[in-house]
Amino acid sequence: MSDPVRLALVGCGGISGSHVAGYRSLYENGCREFRVTACCDPIRQRAEERARAIAQFQDRKPEIYTETGDVIRAGIADAADLCLPHYCHHSVAIRLLEAGLHVQVEKPVGITVQATKLMIEAARKAGCILATAENVRRDLAPRAWTWAIRERRLIGRVHMVVIQSVAFGLRDFDASQFKWRAIKELAGGGMIMDSGAHFADMIQVLFGEPDEVRCWMDTFDRRLVRDAPVVGDRDADVEDAWHAEIRFRKGPEVVWTYANALAGHNLSNAVYYGENGAVLAHGFAFHPFQGGGEAHLADGTTVSNQDVIAQYRATLSPEREQQLFPYGCTQGFAIEVWDFIDAVRTGRTPEMDGEAGLRAKALCEACYESADSGRVVRYRDVLEGQARAYQAPIDEFWHVPAPSA
Ligand SMILES: NC(=O)c1ccc[n+]([C@@H]2O[C@H](COP(=O)([O-])OP(=O)(O)OC[C@H]3O[C@@H](n4cnc5c(N)ncnc54)[C@H](O)[C@@H]3O)[C@@H](O)[C@H]2O)c1
Repeated sequence: MSDPVRLALVGCGGISGSHVAGYRSLYENGCREFRVTACCDPIRQRAEERARAIAQFQDRKPEIYTETGDVIRAGIADAADLCLPHYCHHSVAIRLLEAGLHVQVEKPVGITVQATKLMIEAARKAGCILATAENVRRDLAPRAWTWAIRERRLIGRVHMVVIQSVAFGLRDFDASQFKWRAIKELAGGGMIMDSGAHFADMIQVLFGEPDEVRCWMDTFDRRLVRDAPVVGDRDADVEDAWHAEIRFRKGPEVVWTYANALAGHNLSNAVYYGENGAVLAHGFAFHPFQGGGEAHLADGTTVSNQDVIAQYRATLSPEREQQLFPYGCTQGFAIEVWDFIDAVRTGRTPEMDGEAGLRAKALCEACYESADSGRVVRYRDVLEGQARAYQAPIDEFWHVPAPSA
């Protein structure tokens, strides 16, 4: 495709603002490979707001829609960037794919493994691209620390990873973005499925496929959520505390702890211990290295974030630099949008396609399946759809059929 890709932004709530900031950075750095032609949200004002922001840097204001079907009928988009609540990822994506649009969908792809497989199948049948919008792995510092740990082997073999985030902070169930997030059928799960999806991806980027998972979880904050979409008034039922152990056949033991409804003492740790020292990841522990990092080596020396980034960039050819940091953008949202657009233009596979999104998602689901069954769960069994007792009621609720073999 030589003309700019005509892009529809579908879902104009919270995170779509970061996607628009990504479009803007690309545009301001000279990228003309796409044009946003539509903004769609049932809440018209939200679509208007995003369209107005886009009109500030692009030559034309995108059209406003409140229905995905109208975007399709208007025939003004080749591709769609989906920023939707988890419960409508699969239905909206499949509808667009069947209409011949390429689709990028925010993590955690489908609401269950089965729903995700259905999306992948729909993309294959339509001959369209399904990409996962996963920003964390593409930011400059996460790419640099991934290189430092995997390629440069800065701390040698990694033996143990400790990820802890315990901070008392109850969610505001009056705010629309927390209503759907509090209910299992709408979100698929709590923070494991939300910010946890970034960690589930990065830990596999760093160490490959997990072997097995043991997880405990509970819900301590079961306040009533009023007027949640689809289900109306319901008590919150997704997890707000967990402790998971993730085992790799040839990788570290990972312990992963979270709580947001247990008061009295906060924990915040993200440490990767290897045979030659430890790497500390800064920022939110579930977004590895987004806030940079530092290494403390066994010989008493320290390696700074700046050093690792400089050393990493020195290894990249100009072509690789353009591929990983297109138009000089080093921020994950801009990079994920460009990757999707470039995949649409050239027909290549995006860095994170539906299958890669599914692999990250399956690790989140393995935590739920283990907690639900009280047993250690094999990651492969979850990925292959054999362990799905936790997810089965969600699939039934949304009438998600089993994918064809
Ligand atoms: N990458 C990140 O760091 C990050 C951060 C936050 C959220 N997310 C992901 O982004 C997605 C959206 O999260 P959010 O925080 O923006 O949620 P949100 O509730 O703030 O926004 C969702 C928007 O979708 C709209 N919507 C609902 N049904 C729709 C439909 N059928 N068609 C079009 N629009 C529809 C809603 O009206 C709302 O404006 C989720 O998948 C979430 O996990 C990613």
